[in-house]
Amino acid sequence: MNLFIIPSGPSPKITSPDPKDPRMNARITPAPAQGELDAFWMPFTANRQFKGNPRLLARAEGMHYWTDDGRQVIDAVAGLWCVNAGHGRREITEAVAQQLGTMEYAPAFQMGHPIAFELANRLVGIAPPGMDRVFFTNSGSESVDTALKIAIAYHRARGQGQRTRLIGRERGYHGVGFGGMSVGGMVNNRKLFSGALLPSVDHLPHTLDLGHNAFSRGLPHWGMHLANELERLVALHDASNIAAVIVEPIAGSAGVLLPPVGYLKRLREICDKHDILLIFDEVITGFGRIGKPFAAQAFEVTPDLMTTAKGLTNGAIPMGAVFSQRKIYDAFMQGPESAIELFHGYTYSAHPAACAAALATLGIYQREQLLTRAAALSSEWQEAVHSMRGAPHVIDIRNYGLIGAVELEPRAGKPGARAFDVFLKCFERGVMVRVTGDTIALSPPLIIESAQIAQIVETLAGAIRDTA
Ligand SMILES: Cc1ncc(COP(=O)(O)O)c(C=O)c1O
Repeated sequence: MNLFIIPSGPSPKITSPDPKDPRMNARITPAPAQGELDAFWMPFTANRQFKGNPRLLARAEGMHYWTDDGRQVIDAVAGLWCVNAGHGRREITEAVAQQLGTMEYAPAFQMGHPIAFELANRLVGIAPPGMDRVFFTNSGSESVDTALKIAIAYHRARGQGQRTRLIGRERGYHGVGFGGMSVGGMVNNRKLFSGALLPSVDHLPHTLDLGHNAFSRGLPHWGMHLANELERLVALHDASNIAAVIVEPIAGSAGVLLPPVGYLKRLREICDKHDILLIFDEVITGFGRIGKPFAAQAFEVTPDLMTTAKGLTNGAIPMGAVFSQRKIYDAFMQGPESAIELFHGYTYSAHPAACAAALATLGIYQREQLLTRAAALSSEWQEAVHSMRGAPHVIDIRNYGLIGAVELEPRAGKPGARAFDVFLKCFERGVMVRVTGDTIALSPPLIIESAQIAQIVETLAGAIRDTA
């Protein structure tokens, strides 16, 4: 079927954007008619609900999307926490186009291409101390599964092959691979697959406690002791069996859960004491989201492995990267030089177009000083999001860097319904937020200006007020 031909017959959503508009994407497809929405099995979506009332985005620039029917919508979530430099960055488009014109693909198994090495070197330049080895993947999920495998293989390379147990955290999100799902702690993501999850996994308690910490500004002060639960798990399983602990420095997808002051440092200490690797999943916090290139630097806690994706290419081309401490890489560099040290990798690891996108993205971050801009905006942002305190049903507000969350009291027997209605109202009123359970999450592009912060907060507050 040719999607460029507008189908005849009744269809509420069909419009034809003007393809001569220079701001339009190169290829605009008219909004599909109802029956044409069926083939795409949409991820993490209520497919039937969506297809009954679709919300279609047709183009994007700067802080905004435009819907298929030409409405401007401000992006309060950087796409899906990834478009940190804002939309439609020409430098990225041109770098990708140029790379595709020069060499669209090259394998990274037993072969190399210069741009991959250039990118790894550039990334090491902004990484926390000692994290000077980079393994490329194509997504956050792949980065997580890669890091977990590296952790297990690292211990084996040092003669401690029994260290296979992984420790995650309740309400953690580490993507949808079997490894990430197993160490993750979101029940809906796990329950269908419960018998197929990795067997040697345990979980720390999550760090959200409204009783002690509701409406904290920045990091909550209560709860550092929750890190000591790791000692309890060590006592239960014995350190000699534990490979790694993985946590998000700030848990994003489960509704923005902040680490209490001192919590991450305490985890680091306990891991060091027992020779357990600490993995930070920085898929959301990486690339400037909280005012430093990585949360490891913002919180002054250096992990052994760090998983990233999202902001790495500004969302333009899928790519992920696992950063590793040198000691881990070095542990693999033994045996005959002709031996492959790690039997792991992806056809598209270090894909040239993704490398080009990432290099162009890093160039923008550096020129516009975006990796530290969230720190400059964070107090204005904090005041703005906390101004929603007192709106009906608001039971908590959380913030750090350019992350915000408003937690609503769930409707009786209908968890998530109230926040979803708020999300829909915001979208109708020109603001795209993210909803997870009864939490509204905000994570705008790092180019956001004051007036746009005000617009987002006013619209969200209004939508909350108008939702029963
Ligand atoms: C912390 C974290 N880890 C992993 C992932 C998975 O990334 P992806 O969807 O690119 O596989 C996400 C996605 O939101 C994430 O937030």
